[in-house]
Parts: sequence; C-alpha cells; structure tokens
Amino acid sequence: MLLPEGVLINGLTGEVSPDTGKYTKRLSELREVFQDRAELDRMVATEGDPVVYEVIEYKKEGSDLFFGTTTMEAGNVGGEYFMTRGHFHQRRDMGEVYYTQSGHGVLLLESRDGETRVVRMEPGVCAFIPPDWAHRSINVGTEKLVFVWVCNVEAGHDYGDILKRGMRKVVVDRDGADVIVDNPRYAA
Ligand code: PA5
Ligand code: NI
Repeated sequence: MLLPEGVLINGLTGEVSPDTGKYTKRLSELREVFQDRAELDRMVATEGDPVVYEVIEYKKEGSDLFFGTTTMEAGNVGGEYFMTRGHFHQRRDMGEVYYTQSGHGVLLLESRDGETRVVRMEPGVCAFIPPDWAHRSINVGTEKLVFVWVCNVEAGHDYGDILKRGMRKVVVDRDGADVIVDNPRYAA
C-alpha cells in the first residue's frame, strides 16, 4: 500500500527531500536546441560546459501522479536565453501543472495546430498546461528559475518534433529585455 508523505521542496534551490531521481542537462547536450551553435561550442570549450538545468523528481511505484522540480540557470547563447528542450507529451490526453517558486521565466506553449501562447513564470504563478500543448520553459532572469511540476506518470515525453523543427517562436534578449520573435530556423 502506498503511504502519504510530506516532501520538502526548497523553492530557491529546487532541492527535493526525499527525492527518487535526478538528472542534469549541460550546454553540450542541448546543441540542437540553440540557434548559435558556434557560440554554444565556444561556451562549452571556454566556460566548462555550464549546467543549463536540473530536474529532480519524486515518483512512487504504483502512483498515478508524480512531481518534482526543474531548476534553470540564468544565461544565454548568443542572446537566446537558457531553455529546456521542450516537448509534447506522448499521451495526448494528459496535461501538466508548473508552479513557479522563484526567478523569472517564460513558459512558451504551442498547440498541435500551431497556435503559440505564453505564460509568464513568476513566483506564485501556477501554469495550467492543457493536454497536447508543447511546452518549453525559458529563464529570462538573472537568477535561478525554480518551478514545481506535477504530471501523470503515463504522460511521457515526445521530444522528436520540437528537436527536429524547433518551436515557431524563440525568446531572445534585446538590450536586457526578453522579446518573443519568430524562429528564423523554424521548419514547418
Ligand atoms: O515534464 C515536464 O514538463 C518537466 O518535468 C520537464 O521535463 C523538465 O522541465 C525538463 O524539460 P524538457 O523535458 O523539455 O527538457
Ligand atoms: Ni511536460
């Protein structure tokens, strides 16, 4: 029988206690994600392959739900802010919740038929991600962006489309402000 449990989440560091697993994504693992690959290669070579984000999860065998944190570092690659890979869920009938704890971000969403929506990620904002909307989080601030996500264990990740084509919009730094522009490399 599964037993209830309180899990401590540090909203500034993303630490989850207890956790059941974690992974880190470094810049070199996100080569397809950013536009300026020469700059990415330079950063990997000269800045020690910086961490872009870390995911920590709490998942119990036999449960329908799981949750965890994503902690994103601040930074950009040639003006394009640090971001997650972005994905649809394999299960098209399953959405997700993102609850921002600290930092400043943009949640970029794209429906299957190509509509773009943005939800600002600010502390206290709980974002509803409906089923079948691709979602990518982007740290547009100067500090860590920490958010809690809650999802069905069967949702799964489908990275294929977004990795291949990108999303229709990108979020870039223009004189210190985050601006959403058309993705010049988007391939329909
Ligand atoms: O399930 C989610 O949406 C999150 O846990 C993400 O997986 C996490 O933020 C990392 O993003 P991605 O999986 O797009 O690299
Ligand atoms: Ni998701």
